[in-house]
Amino acid sequence: MSALLAVSGKGGAGKTAVAAGLVLSLREELNGPILAVDADPNSTLGDALGIPWSTTLANVREATDRPAGVAKADVVEFGVEQAVAEGEGIDLLVMGRPEGPGCYCAVNHLLRGSLQRIARRYEAVVIDNEAGMEHLSRRTTDEVAALLVITGPTVVSLRAARQVLRLAQDEGLRLRRRILVMNQWPSPAPAHLAQEADSITADRRVRLLHSSHVADAYERGHSLTHLPPRDRFRESLRADLVPLALDLIRGRDDAW
Ligand SMILES: Nc1ncnc2c1ncn2[C@@H]1O[C@H](COP(=O)(O)OP(=O)(O)OP(=O)(O)O)[C@@H](O)[C@H]1O
Ligand SMILES: [Mg+2]
Repeated sequence: MSALLAVSGKGGAGKTAVAAGLVLSLREELNGPILAVDADPNSTLGDALGIPWSTTLANVREATDRPAGVAKADVVEFGVEQAVAEGEGIDLLVMGRPEGPGCYCAVNHLLRGSLQRIARRYEAVVIDNEAGMEHLSRRTTDEVAALLVITGPTVVSLRAARQVLRLAQDEGLRLRRRILVMNQWPSPAPAHLAQEADSITADRRVRLLHSSHVADAYERGHSLTHLPPRDRFRESLRADLVPLALDLIRGRDDAW
């Protein structure tokens, strides 16, 4: 059974950086490959992971050609397999753009089934979502081991995180844990930020530091695969977020 870790939060808060950083760190800890899912139509997770990809699930959904005698379910299943891009110890699945005006209910149902079957092959699945929560519940009926809500070091971003955490409860998601990830967090944090953060309800909160290497990689269009070992973002992620993720993956979060 795989652990589903879903990343959400306000636009620009660092969802993709945290999702990629987490996947890259988990690769060093787990034996089998990890599935990284880019569920943002503005797909940038592949760049952050340094994994090229050529097709999306949206293309599978829209492909209408089907050889005579082949069931639609088999075409979808095959398409989903084809859409998985393989990196070293990390597989990447890009969802692509959301539905157009047509009705894709039947094919969406098939897609969700194929996706869930594929996801179960992995010990861990990390989903980089677009800002907001609306789509996650449509994509999976599996339990989400943790929702990681990313916030930047502003009260506006913290308020958005609070909202996402609240909405998650109303979305009908089967959600086990909620983690507030305070990204680019100053140390020490000014009182107004600390106060706002402390007033948000979550099972765990994690502080990740600002890194000039991360900013530089984005600026140059490089992946996050070559952050130096002593990079502040990488170190804080490994010290504080990775152990929580491993607890969830190995079912050790009962004691939380
Ligand atoms: N820990 C960090 N240190 C330095 N810069 C960071 C850090 N985290 C994120 N950034 C910067 O913040 C910007 C946004 O990051 P990212 O793309 O990961 O956010 P996002 O939430 O995925 O955005 P979007 O909503 O557009 O998908 C990038 O320019 C990135 O360099
Ligand atoms: Mg992003």
